[in-house]
Amino acid sequence: MPDGGRPSGRPAGGYWIATWGCQMNVHDSEKLAGALADQGYVPASGPEEADVVLLNTCSIREKASEKVFSELGRLKPLKEQRPEMVLGVCGCVAQQEGEAIFKRAPYVDLVLGTRATGTLPRLLPDLRAGTASGACDTEVRDDSIRFPFDRIRREGEATGKAFVTVVEGCNHRCTYCVVPRTRGPEICREMETVLAEVRSLTARGVVEIEFLGQTVNAYRDGEGRTLADLLAAAAAVPGVERLRFTTSHPAQMTDRLMDAMRSASPTVCPYLHLPVQSGSSRVLRSMRRGYDREGYLAKIEGLRRRIPGISLGTDVIVGYPTETEDDFRETLSLLDEVEFDTLYAFAYSTRPSTAALQLGDPITQAEKLDRLARLQEHQRAIQQRRAQRWVGQEVEVLVEGRSKLQASSWTGRTPHGRRVNFAAATAPGRRERVRVVSATAYSLRGALAPPPA
Ligand code: 5AD
Ligand code: SF4
Repeated sequence: MPDGGRPSGRPAGGYWIATWGCQMNVHDSEKLAGALADQGYVPASGPEEADVVLLNTCSIREKASEKVFSELGRLKPLKEQRPEMVLGVCGCVAQQEGEAIFKRAPYVDLVLGTRATGTLPRLLPDLRAGTASGACDTEVRDDSIRFPFDRIRREGEATGKAFVTVVEGCNHRCTYCVVPRTRGPEICREMETVLAEVRSLTARGVVEIEFLGQTVNAYRDGEGRTLADLLAAAAAVPGVERLRFTTSHPAQMTDRLMDAMRSASPTVCPYLHLPVQSGSSRVLRSMRRGYDREGYLAKIEGLRRRIPGISLGTDVIVGYPTETEDDFRETLSLLDEVEFDTLYAFAYSTRPSTAALQLGDPITQAEKLDRLARLQEHQRAIQQRRAQRWVGQEVEVLVEGRSKLQASSWTGRTPHGRRVNFAAATAPGRRERVRVVSATAYSLRGALAPPPA
């Protein structure tokens, strides 16, 4: 029932959700939006017009965490003007801080943890009626993976793309990382449910599915089926043109999974995001990553042998407490050795309740930023060079929308995950053949390829 069964058919109110962080958070916001739509709420154009304002937050680094409190500060006058507006904090900061959020921002009405999204519909009526305030639910349940998939309000659907959660949480204990605390232990969906969701998406015209999990390749359902099995089964669903999955842990990148990627290619896209974090085995050991430099390189070799031309992306942390200049140079040399196509680099940030706290934070911010700039410059040159291999090639682009750089151009991604801008008469969700005419480190420019004779 599109209006949530409301007899008058009038909307219950407007909602506005701000989202920070990774794809899992973007997707959780789609679930929150679905829960609100189910109760008869409609999207509002901004917080000023909304009756329910939710901040879906990220706490991976301190800066991300602090953004929430500055946004709350901005919303405070609005809340004072309209006390009936429900203001909620969801996601990782909510999970991490719990009730402490009310101490810092007493005007917040609701704190909803990452594993409690399912309680929103139950809490909301009282909050709206003003008969309850200061509601906090940070219990670790399995709501987020049990969320009925037909209720999710997906932002990307018009562009033919959809996220599908397969694993929630993380069982690793990387010393720097707050995720096991904010997202709880791993829990996997049953393969049949995932496939039912995939089928329902293709029936609605979705062609690209991205499986999500903090450690997506840890997937193992109650029957012992792994991500390798899931990829094979999902690739066989009619209408699935592109499959991706993120984020993978190198230690769990098994031969079987790599074989499955090859067997289901090209439906499984030739791109993998495989966070390395450091090129120094000493630092990796201190981080408790469960692999060393050689082990990581062996996985890359295994991937390239099976899927020639695969594009690779990674995450790197600079300024980890025990990282010396020599360790950092080992990361630079790893970038040379692997030649990633995409790199996300971060300055180390201390996080509450993590094991690395006991190592202190001895590397100055200036030194961290210097390493970050050197790393990014090093990678930019590699990417610039590698991107040239696309010039003159014809690629398939799944169109996302208008290019931000040039209003007359369209933008989308290739199966390798490269961004392409091109001018044409097209529309979001269409797949176009594009001939690449030029390449920078970050995107390609092309022109519509002539139709085959
Ligand atoms: N400081 C800096 N970067 C971090 N990441 C995770 N925790 C921290 C931290 N405490 C980075 C890792 C991870 C990415 C999502 O964020 O590189 O892969
Ligand atoms: Fe964090 Fe490590 Fe889990 Fe990734 S694998 S979410 S870095 S603890």
